[in-house]
Amino acid sequence: MHPVFITLEGIDFSGKSTQCGHILAWFEAQGMPTLLVREPGGTAISEQIRALLLDTRFDAMSPVSELLLFSAARAQLVRERIRPALASGISVIADRFHDSTTAYQGYGRGLDLDAIFRIHALATDGLEPDMTLYYDIGYEASLERRRARGGDADRMEAGDRGFFERVREGYLALAARFSSRVVVVDGSRDEDAVTRDTIAHVKNVISR
Ligand code: TMP
Repeated sequence: MHPVFITLEGIDFSGKSTQCGHILAWFEAQGMPTLLVREPGGTAISEQIRALLLDTRFDAMSPVSELLLFSAARAQLVRERIRPALASGISVIADRFHDSTTAYQGYGRGLDLDAIFRIHALATDGLEPDMTLYYDIGYEASLERRRARGGDADRMEAGDRGFFERVREGYLALAARFSSRVVVVDGSRDEDAVTRDTIAHVKNVISR
């Protein structure tokens, strides 16, 4: 069986990280060697960049700096971990990838989309996921789940309603534009229902 590269996307508290765990468990049950990574992060360099990006002390960060830092973290992750894993037959599940940058920095922060797509090509070295699962939830649901978690918001979570609504619109626009790659999953339902859909889509992509 060929290794597959699957990415999971959604606004904060969409449930995608929980679903990453379910996909990993399912792959392992099939005996498929699998690597799970999260963005930003996954390498020593990328985790340091993550700390910079999420630190609430850095509220002066310009949107362009933010774009380049997320992209730098990704460039390192692709070269150090994702490409080598795929080359040695290991499937990769990524909790966020380049669509996060398009949605958050492009649609959310309003940066130029053409420039962002050029930066993606450089950062990812042209690597595209075999499938992207986008977990769609509304701002209210996201906020409710954040309140239930408690604790302080990080620098990105501190965005306002308008920001998250633009990010969601961005994801829906990406799903329409790249409809052969991006699958929309209704993330507002209970976890079991979402997991059933997730595994059905995963089975589909590995049987291709
Ligand atoms: P996480 O909460 O899913 O770990 O992601 C960290 C935050 O960073 C989350 O609020 C989404 C945001 N983000 C971007 O704004 N752009 C990106 O390219 C990535 C990967 C994440």
